[in-house]
Amino acid sequence: MRQLIAGNWKMNGLSAGAGALTGAIAAGAGEVSCDLLVCPPFTQVARVVEALRGSVVAVGGQDCHASASGAHTGDISPEMLADLGCSAVILGHSERRQNHHESDAAVHAKVLGAMRAGLMPIVCVGETEAERDAGKHVAVVGGQVAASLPDGFAGVIAYEPIWAIGTGRTPTEGDVEAMHRHIRSALVARLGAAGGGLRILYGGSVKPDNAAGLLAVPEVGGALVGGASLDAGQFLAIAAAVTV
Ligand code: PGA
Repeated sequence: MRQLIAGNWKMNGLSAGAGALTGAIAAGAGEVSCDLLVCPPFTQVARVVEALRGSVVAVGGQDCHASASGAHTGDISPEMLADLGCSAVILGHSERRQNHHESDAAVHAKVLGAMRAGLMPIVCVGETEAERDAGKHVAVVGGQVAASLPDGFAGVIAYEPIWAIGTGRTPTEGDVEAMHRHIRSALVARLGAAGGGLRILYGGSVKPDNAAGLLAVPEVGGALVGGASLDAGQFLAIAAAVTV
C-alpha cells in the first residue's frame, strides 16, 4: 500500500494563511508518490476542501464526536465532517487524550462513529517519556491498540511517542521499528489477516531532514506531521522522501 503523509495543523490557521498553505500544497502535490492528507482545524475545513477540489490531496478532521447528531454543544459529528468533504479523521491524539481526558473507550466509540460515517480513522497511540523510561512503553501502546480499536477496524494507526511531539526529539529508527513490529503483531492478533495490511504511521518531530530515514523503517507506512505540515515546502519535502 502507498505510504500516507498526513498533516495535522492542530489549532493553527486563519483564513488567509490556511488558503495560502493549501494552495502551495496543492501546487506541489502532483509530484509525490504517496497519499497526501491535510487535517485543518474545523473552521477551515470547508475552505480547504474547496481549494483542494480536483487535487490528489485529501482532507480530514482532527477529532469528532461518536454520535451522528444530538445534544452535544460544541461538538462535531463524523457525519458533519463527511458532509463537508472530509474522508478521514484523526482520533485519540495525545493532546486530546491529555487535555480532554479522552479514554481508550471514548476513542473506541469515536472510531465506530467515524467508520459509520465512511471516514478513515487515524487512531493515535504512544507512550509518555516516564512510561518509556520505566520500560512500560510496549505494554502501554499495546493496551491502547487493544482498547481503542473496535472489531472490524478499518483505518490507520499512528504511533506518536508523546515525548517526541513538538520537541525535535525522535526515537532511534531501531526503536521505531521495534514498536511498529509490536503494533503490527497486536493488529494481527486483534483483527486477523486484515491487521496485516493496515498502515502504521510514525509521528513526532518528523522533518525533511529525518523523514527519509524514518519512512524507510520496516513497518512504517507513512507519517503524521504536526509542525512541519504548516510549511508547504517542508510538508512536500517530507512527502518527497517517500521512496517505497
Ligand atoms: P510534531 O507533531 O510533528 O509537531 O511533532 C506531530 C503530531 O502531534 O501529530
